[in-house]
Amino acid sequence: MTQTTVLTGITTTGTPHLGNYVGAIKPAIRASRDAQTASFFFLADYHALIKCEDPERVRQSTLEIAATWLALGLDPDAVTFYRQSDVPEITELTWILTCSTAKGLMNRAHAYKAAVQDNVDAGEDPDHAITMGLFSYPVLMAADILMFNAHKVPVGRDQVQHLEMARDIAARFNHRYGELFVLPEAVVEEHVATLPGHDGRKMSKSYNNTIPLWLPEKKLRKSIMKIVTNSLEPGEPKDPGEGALFPIFAAFASADQRDEMRRAFADGIAWGQAKQQVFELINDELSDARERYEALVADPGAVEAELKKGAEKARASAGALLDKVRAAVGIRSLG
Ligand code: TRP
Repeated sequence: MTQTTVLTGITTTGTPHLGNYVGAIKPAIRASRDAQTASFFFLADYHALIKCEDPERVRQSTLEIAATWLALGLDPDAVTFYRQSDVPEITELTWILTCSTAKGLMNRAHAYKAAVQDNVDAGEDPDHAITMGLFSYPVLMAADILMFNAHKVPVGRDQVQHLEMARDIAARFNHRYGELFVLPEAVVEEHVATLPGHDGRKMSKSYNNTIPLWLPEKKLRKSIMKIVTNSLEPGEPKDPGEGALFPIFAAFASADQRDEMRRAFADGIAWGQAKQQVFELINDELSDARERYEALVADPGAVEAELKKGAEKARASAGALLDKVRAAVGIRSLG
C-alpha cells in the first residue's frame, strides 16, 4: 500500500480556542486515523520566534498545544508528532535551500509585502522592524515540508502562497542537483467550518473574540453567555442565520440537535436558555478531554517525553534525506 504523506505545522505562539478546534485540530486528528496516510504533525517553534519575542509565551504555548493534541486523541504511535527545534536536520536543510532560493521570490511574499506597505503607509523606513526571520520565513516552511517529502499540506488560504513557494524551491533544487524532493500540494479545506467568535466575526486572536478551548467549566459557561445576541424577548421568534450563537451550536451538534434548536429558535426560546444549551453541548464534548489536558499540562515532563520520542522518529527519516541532499550539493566526506 502506498501511503500519502500529510504534514501540518502549528506555530507555538497562542492558546488554542474553539475555532482552532473545530476548523483544524478535530478534522486533522480524524484524518490521521486513515491508514492510507502517514501523518506528520509538528510544533513550529522556530516559526514562533518570527512573531514572538516573549520566551515564556513560546514555551507555554508549546506545552499547551502539545497537550491539546494529545488530550484530544492524537495517537503519537500512529503518527509522527514532534517539535521542529528537536529536528536540527530541518534548520540545516533551511540553509541549503536558502542558498538556492531567489531573493526575488521572497520579495513577493504577501506577509513580507504587507509589512513593508504598513511601514510605507506609516511614513517609516520600508524595512522598519522587519527581521530576516520574517523575510526568510517561506524557506523555513519549505524545509519543514520538503524534509519529509510531504505530498499534501492542509492549510488555510493565507498559507497557499507559501506552498507555491515550497514547490518552486523544490523544483529549482531538483533541477540543479537531481530529483530529491517531492513537490508538495496545498490542501485548502473549502468546507471546513470557520467558527464565528463572540461578535459574529471569524473567531480569531486578532479580533479578541475567542472562546479558549480549555476554560474551566464555569468560565466556559460565562464566555458562552457573552456571545452577542439581539434584544428579542423570550417568546419572540429568532433567526438562526443572525449572530454567532446558532453557528457555534451547529459546529458541535448532530443534525437532529440542529433541527431541534432551529425549532426552538422559531418558538422563541429565551437567549439565556439557548446559551445554556450551547454551553452544555460544548462542555459535554470537551469535559473528558479537558481532564486529560489538565493532567498533561500539570506534567510537562510527560509531554516532553512524548515529543522526544516523536523527534527520534522524525530524525530517522529526515536524516536519511539530508544525507542525500548534502552529498548532492557537495558537502561530502573527504575520506
Ligand atoms: N506557517 C504556518 C502558519 O502560520 C505554520 C507552519 C509552519 C506550517 N511550517 C509549516 C504549516 C509547514 C504547514 C506546513 O499557519
